[in-house]
Amino acid sequence: MKVLSVFNQKGGVGKTTTTINLGAAFALMMSHEVGANEDPGRVLIIDLDQQTHSEITLSGGFFGQRRQTGLGPYDNIAGLLMMDTALPVTDIIRTSEIPHGARRNMDFIPSSKEKMPNVDTALKNDPIDGLFRLRGILETIEPFYQYVVIDNPPGLSYLSINSLVGSTHVVIPCNFWESYPPCVTFASRSRMNSSNLFTHNIIIAFCPPLAGVQTSATLIAKVWIFSVLSRPADRIS
Ligand SMILES: Nc1ncnc2c1ncn2[C@@H]1O[C@H](COP(=O)(O)OP(=O)(O)OP(=O)(O)O)[C@@H](O)[C@H]1O
Ligand SMILES: [Mg+2]
Repeated sequence: MKVLSVFNQKGGVGKTTTTINLGAAFALMMSHEVGANEDPGRVLIIDLDQQTHSEITLSGGFFGQRRQTGLGPYDNIAGLLMMDTALPVTDIIRTSEIPHGARRNMDFIPSSKEKMPNVDTALKNDPIDGLFRLRGILETIEPFYQYVVIDNPPGLSYLSINSLVGSTHVVIPCNFWESYPPCVTFASRSRMNSSNLFTHNIIIAFCPPLAGVQTSATLIAKVWIFSVLSRPADRIS
């Protein structure tokens, strides 16, 4: 199971957009790679952001009728991380409404506007496994998923470290000039807590409005994104 953390401490750089599109690309790729009667495998998106933007999109919102998850206030990633839900993770996972054209093989774990703000303190107060809670959750679902993509909130927190410690890869969507160096520094430090996290990809989502620079940077970004998405599953690095 490959776990990709889409991470940047800066807000509004395309983390959620990248998460959803990467997940959808994996789900479609897997759907089209197998025969009609074969199981294509599954993708899971984890929404770690209290803004719940990934969850809204995956549950059919924004441009459509949002489907209610039918879950209680703690039956989400916040409740799982704080160990405040009675449900196992497999009962909290929901199937996404998108992408169309896939074989309904993309799932998600919802977030919570109300409960996510308490998570960081709860993790910090647990000196034993506070850094490893997400990794523990991921280990329980390993048999069911080929890819997990994690939408991180902006900022640096215990939650971000949990995410990076639980991941095998980190993808950094960024404004090329502003946020690449600090993100790589943070990701490298988190790597000290995780022998799993061995590499990173950078998606240049936003480029500065400088004529010549923008044209070439946008071109590089498109080539880069294409190469990330089109690599065979076992060669993403
Ligand atoms: N590659 C891109 N080029 C231009 N605009 C983009 C790109 N990716 C995302 N956007 C737009 O930028 C805005 C912010 O994107 P998004 O919500 O994905 O960022 P974010 O990093 O998740 O934000 P936050 O830190 O608040 O969670 C949205 O309006 C989105 O449509
Ligand atoms: Mg976001």
